[in-house]
Amino acid sequence: MTQTPTAPTEAFRFIDDDRESPRFRVNRRAMVDPEVFDRERDRIFGQVWLYVGHETELSKPHDFKTRDVAGRPVIFARDKAGAIQVWINSCPHRGAMICREPAGNARFMTCFYHGWSFNTSGKLVSVPGDTSYGPGFQRPGLASPARLDSYRGFVFISFNPDVEDLVDYLAEAKEFLDLVCDQSEVGMQVLEGTHEYSVKANWKLLVENSYDGYHAVSTHQRYFEMVTASGVELDAATLGDSIGVDLGNGHGASVGGPGTGGVFGRPLSQAGEAEKEERFEGFRTKYGGAWVDRMTGARNLVIFPNLVVIDLVMGVVIRKIDPIRPDYMEVTAWEMVPPEEGEELKKQRLDNFLTFWGPGGLASPDDVEALETCQRSFAAHRELEWSDVSRGMSSPVALGSDELQMRTWWRRWDQLVNDREHPVEPHEPPSARFRGERAELQEQTTAG
Ligand code: FES
Ligand SMILES: [Fe+2]
Repeated sequence: MTQTPTAPTEAFRFIDDDRESPRFRVNRRAMVDPEVFDRERDRIFGQVWLYVGHETELSKPHDFKTRDVAGRPVIFARDKAGAIQVWINSCPHRGAMICREPAGNARFMTCFYHGWSFNTSGKLVSVPGDTSYGPGFQRPGLASPARLDSYRGFVFISFNPDVEDLVDYLAEAKEFLDLVCDQSEVGMQVLEGTHEYSVKANWKLLVENSYDGYHAVSTHQRYFEMVTASGVELDAATLGDSIGVDLGNGHGASVGGPGTGGVFGRPLSQAGEAEKEERFEGFRTKYGGAWVDRMTGARNLVIFPNLVVIDLVMGVVIRKIDPIRPDYMEVTAWEMVPPEEGEELKKQRLDNFLTFWGPGGLASPDDVEALETCQRSFAAHRELEWSDVSRGMSSPVALGSDELQMRTWWRRWDQLVNDREHPVEPHEPPSARFRGERAELQEQTTAG
């Protein structure tokens, strides 16, 4: 039995952002109300930059992948000249899906319904029986989203022609993508193959969970037991060495101190450790110690609204969260690697990708269970209206196990969805260990 929530009134507040107490709460109706869901589609997913995929997923001209972005089916492709293109996967004739395979390489895409055929630049190149259309007929090409741009290989689109430039949109999150991308001499690469799973919960719960340092020890006990049993010593000081940061425009991260990345995962052999050490020594020469110290720290980054990059150094995951219904989301995850790594380090990464993050691994199922129980309990959202997200609000510096990063996200959400403005939450700047800069700034455009 479902009850239809009443329409929000002018006075209805989804976010209680009380700086005096201080206290920050989110009304659970945000997680169940179909009207909120529609507004998100329109006011968030119709307006901002959205992640489509990584350039390295398309290695040659005419390579393509099909996927959904904000509920719209798209073709993510490389054209004949090697440029990245994104097409709406719908025939301009009468609407059939042009491309029904998940991936492939094709010089032409032919619609199976009436046989119209397009090249990889989106041009309509052949129409069966086209004499019936008359000489003045304007041949429609494939439709594309209003904007397309990329940063260090991460490709984004926007359905809003007036959206700000991608680099401005990314704000300080750019630096965190740099910390990930600088871990390869030849450009970080996304591996073939994905993890795809669904969660019976509102999509915003996985956003929160993706950089929630607070839940790790209690929710992921099984994973930590496995790691400890394999001989790794996890000390509380290393696990607790982290901060939470507001990166502007709703982006945020929980960030581990130097050396916190790589404490997860099964132990490496001496040769593996030596290779890892040598790789990072090379980076020190190139970028300076302060930047590389930061590179060796774990980071869980959320680029508003739904792109997650989790870099635990021993493994990097790109996660795209798609809202399908108020109580149901789909998740796609890719593994990103430095391709020049030796066999053992590669193996460790893949092992981590499976055992930690995989849908059948030792961490993700626990997260899924946590989120699904939240969603089930929100059936009582009228009786228990508010979730509390206040942790660390009064601390001079917010920790990674605090909730500043989620509040940052929710404030941006409330601004877009409900036209409510929230001032930035004041904190002291993090210590110098978290602020080291890259010594030698290099030209960073689309190259990985
Ligand atoms: S719908 Fe594609 S050719 Fe007719
Ligand atoms: Fe988790």
